[in-house]
Amino acid sequence: MAALDFSEGMLKYAETKNKNKFESKVIILNQDVLNNELQSNYYDFVTCAFGLKTFNEKQLKMLAFQTNRILKLNGKISFIEVSEPRNKVLKVLYQFYLKKVIPILGKAFLGNPIEYKMLWEYTNKFKNSKKAMEIFKKEGFELKYNSYFYGCATGFNGMKTE
Ligand SMILES: C[S@@+](CC[C@H](N)C(=O)[O-])C[C@H]1O[C@@H](n2cnc3c(N)ncnc32)[C@H](O)[C@@H]1O
Repeated sequence: MAALDFSEGMLKYAETKNKNKFESKVIILNQDVLNNELQSNYYDFVTCAFGLKTFNEKQLKMLAFQTNRILKLNGKISFIEVSEPRNKVLKVLYQFYLKKVIPILGKAFLGNPIEYKMLWEYTNKFKNSKKAMEIFKKEGFELKYNSYFYGCATGFNGMKTE
């Protein structure tokens, strides 16, 4: 099992989690997912939480390509991302939470609010996972769209068919 990120800070958290929860069995790699060295047609499952929203269309295509490349045929995927709910009242409340509350919590617990300040900006631009799912479908995946908490998070799951 392997996990990758290209942020030194996030990799430190991953190492701690790996030790505490997975007996350090996960191979943690400092790599760019869009240009990674993972073995082709090797993995049974690929999952990614909250990694879609900062990618533009070209990067999403590369992500879909790389995901397809490393998975075995019929291998499964599951992606989830923070999204903009369609209900207007919920959207205002959620915007307040992401824009104001999360940066304060980020500063209080992690001492660095900069990334968290961008959370709503990214979410607002990203909207939901539909476009990303269509890009993945074109890359040879059969997928089902998922919406969580009235659209506050969306994602897709399914398998590699080509
Ligand atoms: C919002 S964080 C989510 C981290 C983790 N999945 C979690 O749920 O705690 C998004 C992560 O994606 C990483 N990331 C963004 N672009 C990347 C890329 N091209 N290659 C590897 N990691 C990337 C960032 O460094 C960041 O740690």
